[in-house]
Amino acid sequence: MSGTNPFLDPARQAELYGHASRLASRSNALMRAKTAGRSVPDTIVGLVRDHHERPDRLGMVLDLGCGRGTSSLTLARKLRPQRVVGLDASAALIEQARQRTQRLPGLPVTFQRGDFHRLPVSAGSCDVVVAAFCLYHSPRPQSVISEISRALAPGGLAVLVTKDLDSYREMDQLVAAAGLDPRAEQHESLYISAHSGNLADLAAMSLDVLTEEHEEHSFTFDGHDHVAEYLATNPKYDLAPGLYGNADALAAILHELVPDRPLTTQSLVTFVVARSREGRA
Ligand SMILES: C[S@@+](CC[C@H](N)C(=O)[O-])C[C@H]1O[C@@H](n2cnc3c(N)ncnc32)[C@H](O)[C@@H]1O
Repeated sequence: MSGTNPFLDPARQAELYGHASRLASRSNALMRAKTAGRSVPDTIVGLVRDHHERPDRLGMVLDLGCGRGTSSLTLARKLRPQRVVGLDASAALIEQARQRTQRLPGLPVTFQRGDFHRLPVSAGSCDVVVAAFCLYHSPRPQSVISEISRALAPGGLAVLVTKDLDSYREMDQLVAAAGLDPRAEQHESLYISAHSGNLADLAAMSLDVLTEEHEEHSFTFDGHDHVAEYLATNPKYDLAPGLYGNADALAAILHELVPDRPLTTQSLVTFVVARSREGRA
């Protein structure tokens, strides 16, 4: 891989999240392939119910890096807090999250564009702060967690979610075997800055860690066409010009060079639940 890790490169964030369609097709391809692993938004709801001292009387819930708002909407529907605010750096994703919310009138959810390194909330104002699959976009995730600590009310909970460094390793093997990127298995993990192996330690710098759960999620892609839908959204590889973002072209090359068969791959998903240090509610 040339230069900065694409998940940490500010110059590549517009390519990754500047259009809602890329994240939607990546999530759709992955979710269609999923064969094991609980729903992440539902698991977050369960963790809040298990660890917050008054989960049925929550005030403000902040969902960082909310993307298209999937977890924000689940948190609002299932926890019924006074207010959910979804925050994301991408204007396109905030717009799509707002549109999805319009179809669900009455939910107390709003979406706001912003940078999770500077949370637009006052100190001690949040009962719950969620950061799912987004801290690995920060070169300084510990400073985001320090902001989370500032935002949490006494007794407030942070639920942080990430993946392991080795996630989707079988994809790397296929990409290398097909010659699409012979060095596919050598690239740095996209999740290097906040992953299953360091998330609890990062949290412990500013918060009291209550629990850490690891869950293996498994995915079986039907064959090359399905794999190519996901690969087309993956910035990890050095592909020949014209292939990144082009699922049809990637599928055509895979069909030509490798026998078509289902691909099974895993990702360990890690949930860290931590409480503000200022004391109990
Ligand atoms: C993989 S998506 C995760 C979306 C959602 N949380 C989920 O679990 O499906 C990562 C999100 O983090 C957002 N993001 C990246 N850097 C950010 C920053 N500095 N501040 C706020 N959001 C950021 C991206 O725009 C993107 O929507």
